Amino acid sequence: MDGVKSGRGGAHRENQSSTQLSQESVEKLIKQSQEAKEHAYCPYSKFRVGAALLTSDNSIFTGCNVENACYNLGVCAERNAMAKAVSEGKKTFKAIAISSDMSDRIITPCGGCRQFMREFGSSWDVYMSKADGSYKKMTVDELLPLSFGPQELTRTKVTDLP
Ligand code: THU
Repeated sequence: MDGVKSGRGGAHRENQSSTQLSQESVEKLIKQSQEAKEHAYCPYSKFRVGAALLTSDNSIFTGCNVENACYNLGVCAERNAMAKAVSEGKKTFKAIAISSDMSDRIITPCGGCRQFMREFGSSWDVYMSKADGSYKKMTVDELLPLSFGPQELTRTKVTDLP
């Protein structure tokens, strides 16, 4: 599997450069994230978010935020898209696009979602868009520098618990 290591340390892309997508593919991914946003369930925040995740085999999984009356149980759009992909057996990702209704600011992923992304590698791309479809691209590593990932669990330790 192209640069993907799997095992005790989790599944992740290692030492990879991010994938160059055509302008058409980026626009399509953003459009799909905007469509996913239409399904957002956000009666509490009234803040709709959509995500579209492109896997290494070019499948697309979408997600939206799903809130709950027990506020802390709400799930972000990005995490929903990633959980859908993983539950369908896809763990290597090229890119994720994120959309919201904000007209004057790109939607940036929350810290929890950055960490969730990082589980599946640091060198894939996050397209953060404004409502008009304009966007900024950053890698997961740029969004979460000095991150803690699956590899850390396998490092040499001063004590090995039985
Ligand atoms: N939200 C996301 O789904 N993704 C983000 O990147 C930021 C925030 C959701 C969580 C909550 O349902 C609403 O937006 C307001 O925080």
